[in-house]
Amino acid sequence: MSSKTAQNEEDPFEMYDLDSGRKLLHEYSGIPNEDVKNHVELIQTKALQVRPYPCIRRYRFLDLIMKTTDVYLEVLDRVKNGEKFMDLGCCFGQEIRQLVHDGAPSVNTYGSDLWGDFLSIGYELFKDKDRLQTTFIAADVFDDSSPLVELAGKMNIIYVGDFFHLFSLEEQEKAAMRVAQLLAAQPGSLIIGRQSGSETAGKFSRAGDTSGRKHFQHNPQSWKELWERIGEKNGTAWTAEVDLCPEFKFKSVPEEKSSEVQRLMSVKGLRYTIRRL
Ligand SMILES: C[S@@+](CC[C@H](N)C(=O)[O-])C[C@H]1O[C@@H](n2cnc3c(N)ncnc32)[C@H](O)[C@@H]1O
Repeated sequence: MSSKTAQNEEDPFEMYDLDSGRKLLHEYSGIPNEDVKNHVELIQTKALQVRPYPCIRRYRFLDLIMKTTDVYLEVLDRVKNGEKFMDLGCCFGQEIRQLVHDGAPSVNTYGSDLWGDFLSIGYELFKDKDRLQTTFIAADVFDDSSPLVELAGKMNIIYVGDFFHLFSLEEQEKAAMRVAQLLAAQPGSLIIGRQSGSETAGKFSRAGDTSGRKHFQHNPQSWKELWERIGEKNGTAWTAEVDLCPEFKFKSVPEEKSSEVQRLMSVKGLRYTIRRL
């Protein structure tokens, strides 16, 4: 059992289906299959010292989402043809690496995160500092004077993974305004994402968070309504396709499931594509 299992008494590396990320590390980064687990555990240990996000503990960065969406081939085609792609709150930037591995010119890709250390760790994870031409920007999405703002109107497609649920509803609206601001003011500008979700929208405390801080979790309807409000605020119009689905993909769960594993198996997530009309 891994040294990181104390919290859940399960080994997340074995429990979750991380095949897409493992494949990427093998094929794109050239890491032998037998070395992937050690490599990833070293990276995880380092990253948890930057900020102990549960998604890092659960190796969510090895569950590639964008390529499972209906719009992936469109995204790939558009970025190959010169359109600009950004992963906002990208952490290690795994979705960018998948896109590049599938043939997108990295020079058309951007990644931004609050913590520059995560961006550096991404190079270590994927062993591509010498060849990746992605523009990485360390910036706070809420900072109106950050370098991110200089890219206003320049992006065509933005991916946002496990990001909005970190914030209150008011903060989410500010972050969504930033996303809308970054995108080109033209029909077809696209937002793709995932985040935790629920049948019932409302404030929630994240599991294990004792700070008392309240985050906001959406259901499909409330997430669509947020984008309607964004449209009213900045005079834009968006269509949103939003699905509620199981948040985690499991590969191997013990027959005797702890209450934590049972809880995780019932957690829901939102998957969405939002397109400017
Ligand atoms: C839970 S992680 C998700 C990472 C990645 N998108 C994924 O799907 O695996 C959330 C990321 O958002 C970043 N983040 C948090 N607050 C931010 C802010 N105010 N501005 C920009 N990035 C932020 C964190 O540093 C972290 O990398």
